[in-house]
Amino acid sequence: MPMICLSDFEAYAKKHLPKMTWDFFAAGADECCTRDDNLLAYKRIRFRPRMLRDMSVMDTRTALLGTEISFPVGIAPTGFHQLACPDGEKSTARAAEAMNTCYITSTFATCTVEEIAAAAPNGFRWLQLYVHCNRVLTEALVRRAEAVGFQGVVLTVDVPYTGKRRDDVRNSFQLPSHMAVKNFEGVFEKENCIEYGLPPNSIDPSLSWNDISWLQSLTRLPIIIKGILTKEDADLAVRHGVKGIIVSNHGGRQLDGAPATIDALIEIVDTVQDKAEVYLDGGIRTGSDVLKALALGAKCVFIGRPALWGLTYKGEEGLRKVLQILLDEFRLSMALAGCHNVSEIGRHLVQFSKL
Ligand SMILES: Cc1cc2nc3c(=O)[nH]c(=O)nc-3n(C[C@H](O)[C@H](O)[C@H](O)COP(=O)(O)O)c2cc1C
Repeated sequence: MPMICLSDFEAYAKKHLPKMTWDFFAAGADECCTRDDNLLAYKRIRFRPRMLRDMSVMDTRTALLGTEISFPVGIAPTGFHQLACPDGEKSTARAAEAMNTCYITSTFATCTVEEIAAAAPNGFRWLQLYVHCNRVLTEALVRRAEAVGFQGVVLTVDVPYTGKRRDDVRNSFQLPSHMAVKNFEGVFEKENCIEYGLPPNSIDPSLSWNDISWLQSLTRLPIIIKGILTKEDADLAVRHGVKGIIVSNHGGRQLDGAPATIDALIEIVDTVQDKAEVYLDGGIRTGSDVLKALALGAKCVFIGRPALWGLTYKGEEGLRKVLQILLDEFRLSMALAGCHNVSEIGRHLVQFSKL
């Protein structure tokens, strides 16, 4: 089967994964309005392309908080990569390193942060954090990640509780018994595990803005907040000294009815201006989606499910292929729109269609 676009990888994953795993990857909350709107919203945006601009030389590079990456697409944090391929997050880390982009590693990885760092020693990684009710465990994880070279901490703020994903409830989704949330291995008895095969009290619902300074006191690494959807919260994030904001609705897996991320982006970019970097995830499936998100002010985008489909197809090689396709499509879209480099991409490049 020739793999020429990301939906080819989606079709492959749907055909080859066990149903429970496919459903877990695909799930959105409740009626999946937000999950689906993340993709549909891109169809409402059209380009204003410019012509005759000598597109023979182009540059897709950008930088995240000062670290250069080859193109503005990174890997969003998703849990349990061994569900997709045997080497799990080690394969993800190797693919991101090979393609010179950023990999945000989930707290709920099926490999430890040390194993992931050893698999791709020159990779650029941030640690995604879910704060445990027992703060000592979170403090230890942040310190371990910093010790093995992670360069940022991404605090996910949209999960005081897990959204209601109907298929996961129907399937009684559980992590298979031979897999574990490795960063906490040994801390909990498996029999105590509750929903999703997660250790008990894995996500502290009492988390609040007051905890940002606690997190800052633990580490020298920059803090990035993931899950912001309004200008009010963007403003609070900046006031609390965060260095980056990921506009995200968790791939539509949390509050159904939250806006598509590309629709929420503009007010956040306008509020934050240059006080922090603004990124986006949710619904990125083509290089032209990447161009639209950058045109509306995102510095970089991150892919969640498409990375899982690539890992399912052929582990590290499959994910590299997914990233390469996005890079090729992004470069082509830039060329056809008349942008030589990312600094030429701006709001002048897009218009909203009446569709
Ligand atoms: C299977 C799956 C697991 C996820 N696990 C996490 C996680 O552990 N931490 C987190 O912050 N976000 C998690 N997310 C959300 C992603 O980081 C991201 O916001 C979302 O997948 C982006 O949408 P996309 O899948 O349309 O690219 C998960 C998403 C999926 C689909």
